[in-house]
Amino acid sequence: MTGTARVRAAPRPPGSEEDPGPVMRVRDLRVGFDVPGGRLRAVDGVDLDLRRGEILAIVGESGSGKSALTLALAGLNRGPRTHISGTVEFGGRNLVEADEARLREIRGRDVAVVFQDALAALNPLHRAGAQVAEMIRLHQPVGRAAAWDRAERLLADVGIAGPANAARATPTSCRAACASG
Ligand SMILES: Nc1ncnc2c1ncn2[C@@H]1O[C@H](COP(=O)(O)OP(=O)(O)OP(=O)(O)O)[C@@H](O)[C@H]1O
Ligand SMILES: [Mg+2]
Repeated sequence: MTGTARVRAAPRPPGSEEDPGPVMRVRDLRVGFDVPGGRLRAVDGVDLDLRRGEILAIVGESGSGKSALTLALAGLNRGPRTHISGTVEFGGRNLVEADEARLREIRGRDVAVVFQDALAALNPLHRAGAQVAEMIRLHQPVGRAAAWDRAERLLADVGIAGPANAARATPTSCRAACASG
C-alpha cells in the first residue's frame, strides 16, 4: 500500500477455543491502475489474516489504498485498467482468480461491503426495499413477498423508522423517510 495505511486486528474475543485458522487469508495483494503515464501502484503487497470474530481496522491517509484493497477482496474493482494479483484465500479458493459467477455467489452472503455513503451506493431509481430484497432472493430460495417482508424486517433491525414506508421509497425520497431512530 502506498502512504501510511496500516492494518490492525482487534484481539480475539475471550472464550474462543482452539484457533480454526483465518476465515480470510490475504497474501501479497497488489492492485495497480493504468493511468495516463503508467501504472499507479495503489496496493503494494498486503498480507493479512482475518479470523472469526475479529474486527480488522485499515487506517491510512486519503489515497493510501484502503478502498482499492477492500474492494479487491470481493473483486469489486475489477476492470480492463485494473491489475489485481496475489491471493485472497476464502473458502478454500483464491478469490483473485475466481470467476464472476463464483464471486456473485459469495458477495452479499459471505463477503459484503458496507459503503461509506450508503445513499450513493443504492440505485436512485429503484425502491430501497427492492434492492435489499434482490440480494435476499439471490441467495435464498424465497418468493418475492417473503423477500420483501424480510427486507422490511432488516430495515427495522438497523433502526430505520417506518421500515414499511422506507422500503417502498426510492433512496432519495428515503432520505427524509429513513431517518434512523
Ligand atoms: N479506478 C481507479 N483508476 C485509477 N486510479 C485509482 C482508481 N481507484 C483508485 N485510484 C487511485 O489509487 C490510489 C488509492 O485510492 P483509494 O481510493 O484506495 O484510497 P483510500 O485510502 O481509500 O482514500 P480515501 O481515504 O480518500 O477513501 C489513489 O491514488 C487513487 O487516486
Ligand atoms: Mg476510500
